[in-house]
Amino acid sequence: MTRTFFVGGNWKCNSTVKSITELCASWKESTDNGAKYSGKPVEIVIAPPSIYAQTAKDALPANFQVSLQDCYSSTGAFTGEIAADMIVDMGIPWVITGHSERRTIFKETDEVVATKTAYAISKGLSVIACIGELLEEREAGKTLEVNERQLSAIAATVTDWSKVVIAYEPVWAIGTGKVATPEQAQEVHAALRAWLSTNVNPEVAESTRIIYGGSVKPANANELAGQADIDGFLVGGASLKPDFISVIDSYA
Ligand code: G3P
Repeated sequence: MTRTFFVGGNWKCNSTVKSITELCASWKESTDNGAKYSGKPVEIVIAPPSIYAQTAKDALPANFQVSLQDCYSSTGAFTGEIAADMIVDMGIPWVITGHSERRTIFKETDEVVATKTAYAISKGLSVIACIGELLEEREAGKTLEVNERQLSAIAATVTDWSKVVIAYEPVWAIGTGKVATPEQAQEVHAALRAWLSTNVNPEVAESTRIIYGGSVKPANANELAGQADIDGFLVGGASLKPDFISVIDSYA
């Protein structure tokens, strides 16, 4: 089967109403002026800071979807949190779970990520579930062990794989400019797909998008997109710029 190419933009804790308005206007102009991806079956999802979700939803090109960057797995007395129920209530279809910054800065464990992912799916959200190894884990030869452990925790709770996109984001490539080589990324993506085939089933392995994140830029997107098991990207810094459209065009 052909997996629909997926390009996510994670704005993290960046943006203002003004910058969002200006950036989205530039993307609309590119889209209206015949960007290569126009009319192609690519799925585009932007994750603004949650406070700007509606601002982004109103300003983005019509074919761009909105995601939040995290969610909580319950409503109630959890000051400051945003429950998956509320994301659905606001008409937002996606959420990111398990981003490395949630894991390292906010100490989210594999179990917390799995619980959030399962709860979000149970409420009807689609999920970009993130995994990825630290530099020291890669240097210790533990890349596949770590990523398969993190994927296993998520997979143990997934009830509807059609709602899941797996984002492989080597932590050492995030925000560093040190993008994984196409060979490095393909090796892990192929291993993750093989893990899904063995531990879930071959149909899920074949249909699930596995996307790459970590210093993706217009200059390196084409070569990465050409890899057999790289089904798209989760882009940070480069998704805050007008030429993010070039990253989307990379597969077209
Ligand atoms: O979630 C995407 C992000 O972690 C990648 O960031 O700036 O390296 O593209 P960046």
